[in-house]
This record gives sequence, structure tokens and C-alpha cells, in this order.
Amino acid sequence: MRKEYSTSVLQQDSVFITELLDKVKQQALQYLHHIDEIPTSNDSWKDDIENILPVDSAGAEYALGLFNNKYLSSIVASSGPRYLGFVIGGTTPASIMGDWLTSVYDQNSFATTGAGDRSALIELDTIQLLLQLFDLPKTFLGGFVSGATMSNFTCLAVARQWAGKMQQLDIAKDGVTKKIKVLSATPHSSSVKSLSMLGLGSANFIKLKTADGNREAVDITFLEETLQAFSNEPCIFISSGGTVNTVDFDDMQAIALLKTKYHFWWHIDAAFGAYAACTSTHKHLLNGWEYADSIAIDCHKWLNVPYDSAVFFVKDEHKMLQVETFQNSNAPYLGDPMADFTFMNFLPENSRRLRALPAWFSLMAYGKKGYADIVENNIRLAQLLGKLIDGHQAFEQMAPVRLNTVCFTLSNYKHSSHKIKLFLSLLNESGKVFMTPTLYNNSFGIRAAFVNWRSTEKDVQIIWNELLNALEAFDHSH
Ligand SMILES: Cc1ncc(COP(=O)(O)O)c(C=O)c1O
Repeated sequence: MRKEYSTSVLQQDSVFITELLDKVKQQALQYLHHIDEIPTSNDSWKDDIENILPVDSAGAEYALGLFNNKYLSSIVASSGPRYLGFVIGGTTPASIMGDWLTSVYDQNSFATTGAGDRSALIELDTIQLLLQLFDLPKTFLGGFVSGATMSNFTCLAVARQWAGKMQQLDIAKDGVTKKIKVLSATPHSSSVKSLSMLGLGSANFIKLKTADGNREAVDITFLEETLQAFSNEPCIFISSGGTVNTVDFDDMQAIALLKTKYHFWWHIDAAFGAYAACTSTHKHLLNGWEYADSIAIDCHKWLNVPYDSAVFFVKDEHKMLQVETFQNSNAPYLGDPMADFTFMNFLPENSRRLRALPAWFSLMAYGKKGYADIVENNIRLAQLLGKLIDGHQAFEQMAPVRLNTVCFTLSNYKHSSHKIKLFLSLLNESGKVFMTPTLYNNSFGIRAAFVNWRSTEKDVQIIWNELLNALEAFDHSH
């Protein structure tokens, strides 16, 4: 009896799917049309409504009502124009269309043949579009993963297999039996986390000297000396194509030259810095990056597609290493990893959504010029905010604006974590802007990263007013 009832509610939802999706569409439009006014942060969390799994089916409209009642007030405009914390991109209209269809079609994008579903071919097409966006050669193979952390992980897993092969080891099969040298000057925490997940050890990387003059980029002479010293064993070099604090780039051209002299795996974390390639003004920062073995790039940052989306690129000459690393062995029902190209033998996940579709929609909708406009506009806004900060004695930039991020502090309080946090909480409490704290060069600071297509000069004006308001409140607070 109860079972029949449950089934009928489910079936009713299916019958009324038009009305249900209309409701969701109206709700989505409510968010999108008012994104400028929705707070960028809030403390709202309703814990008075109990979290109990219903026994009987109540239907989708009931779930929507419950969601709205319990959670809606905690949703913030993190995809809005003044959310500058971390490196959080927005969503283009076309990417939302692609994302909705991804859920509706619910394809399992794991195999190009033999799975019935051939959606993985859409992913292969999208990879080609991205290579064109970044002006990278077709000699890279790629795939979609959930974020730059997984992209770094995927690339470094292949690098690990390469380093093993150079020493007649098959690490994918036999595990890590020998320490592998990993070098980096300013790796993002996600690369370090990847080393931990890969069994290489997060504490085992060799931290290289950075270039002189308030730089996070590697000192090339020091890198060469290190490569020389280790020339009898393979090493992995993790370079930065945009550090998260000051968006500093390792000198790609110089590293490309070192590749011709020394034997090492060159991985670039270009989670958001890759998008410099879309501009005429900053693309030189990436000159030479095409010689890398692997590159990690986020899509949910500057491509402005919904979470979770990132790509990895690995040179096609390493394809076998990649398949060795990610193949499903002992699973005849999944096909022969060596015979057919399948994503499930090429990256960490087996089953996965058609993650490429939002990116495909957005790339096709806005093209190279559209992305150049987004990236150049964000760079201009960061420079604008940087200038305002430079012109006020209470503030101090911790590094010049190199791309899209302003890293700054309060001139008199940079050594006080407590004061910087206090200022930041006064700023973020406004709900009109959101920034996040950092530690750079032993000083406490604040990062404001522009990666949202919606941000305008008017937003910078609002941001500046909020910074001044927070300063006034801060001065009164002590
Ligand atoms: C340079 C860099 N690499 C990697 C990541 C990790 O990205 P995700 O959070 O998408 O995994 C970030 C995130 O900000 C980043 O800035």
C-alpha cells in the first residue's frame, strides 16, 4: 500500500514536470535578476527545522518548499559581481543552459565507444575548443575533472608514472618504492595536497628560491642549478602560471629553454592564469608554456561556468603513461583500456556527468573575442582598484597588480592577523562585497580577485566605498 503511494507521487511529479521546472526556472530567474542586490555573505542558518528523512513521498514541490524555507536565506551572491574572495568565477547564461541540459540528459561521459552513450565525444570536441581558446597546440590530450585540485592531481599522477618509468619502475602497478624529487617555488596548496594523495609526500617537495624583488616566481638560475645537481635522476617541476596571492608567473620561456637541456617533467598550474592567453596585453606571460608536459586549468573560475569544472592537458606523447596510471584493470566489462580511448581509463573517475557541456555552450556562445573581453575587463577593474588603494595612505598594495588580483593590506596593521581579520569582517558584513584574507611575505593581507564577467566599474566604485566605510568603522573600533 505504502509502496504504491510512493510510486504515485513520483509518477505525479513526472506528469507535472512542466509546472515543477517552471517553478524552478522562476526561482532561478529571481536569483539571476537580483544578483546585484543579494548579499555576498550572511550568517543565516536555520537549525530550528529538523533534518529528518521522510518515510513517505511528499513530492518535488514539497522538497522545493522545504529547501526555500530552510536553506534559501543562506544562499549568497557568490556568482555575483562583487564576490572577490578566493578565485570564484560566475556563470555565463550559455553555461547555465549547458549545465541544465547536462542534468536533464544525464549522460555518463566515460567512453567514446561501446557505452551506447557517446557524449564523451562532446568532451573531446570541447577540449579542442579550449586548446584554441588558449592558443595551445593540438599535441595536448585533455579531459574534464571537477576542479584545478583534481587537475593538478591528474597531471602529477602521470608525472609520477613518468618519473618511475625513467627508473624502470611501474609506480601505478607496484606503488611508490623510491622517493621522487619534486621541485617548486610557490606551489598552490592543491598541488601540495596532490603530492600527499599520490603518496609522494606533501613535505617532500623541494622549495626553490624565488626571483629577487617581491616575486613569487621561481629564480631561474637557482632552478637550473638544482636541475643540474639532480641531473642523474628524473624530477618533476611544478611551476606557477599565476600564483594565487600576487598572480606571479614563472618565466615560461626560460623554463622551456631548460627543457631542452635537462630531463624533467614540467607541470604548470595555470588554474586561472591560463586565461591571460585570451588577451593581447598579458598573453606574453605564457610564452613558452606550450612546451610543458602538463597543464592544469580551472573552468569554474575564469571560464565562468558553474562548479565543478576544470581541464587537464597532458602531452599526447605521454598517453600510455596516462592510461597505465588510470586504467581499470581486471574489468573486462569495461573494455580493453589499451584498445579503445575511454575517459575512464584516462582520468581519476569512472562514471561522470557530461561536465564539458556548460563549457561547450559558453565557448560556442561567446567565442574568443567574448572571453578576451571578460578577461581584459577583469584585469582593468583590478588595476582600477589597485590605483585607488595606492592613493590612500591607510592601504598598501603587497605586490603590483599583475593580472586580476589586488593583494593589499592595512599599512599600519600588516603584522596583526587579528586587526586584518577585524577589518575584513567589517568589510564583508556589508554584504556588498566579499574578500578573503591571506599571508604574504610574512605579512597579513587581503586578496580581491576579479574573475566574474558581471563586474563593472560601478562595482569597483561600490567596493571602494565599502572599503572606506569599513576603514571608518575599524578606526572607531579601537
Ligand atoms: C593557482 C590555483 N591552483 C589550484 C587551485 C585549486 O582549484 P580548485 O579549488 O578549483 O580545485 C586554485 C584555487 O584557487 C588556484 O588558484
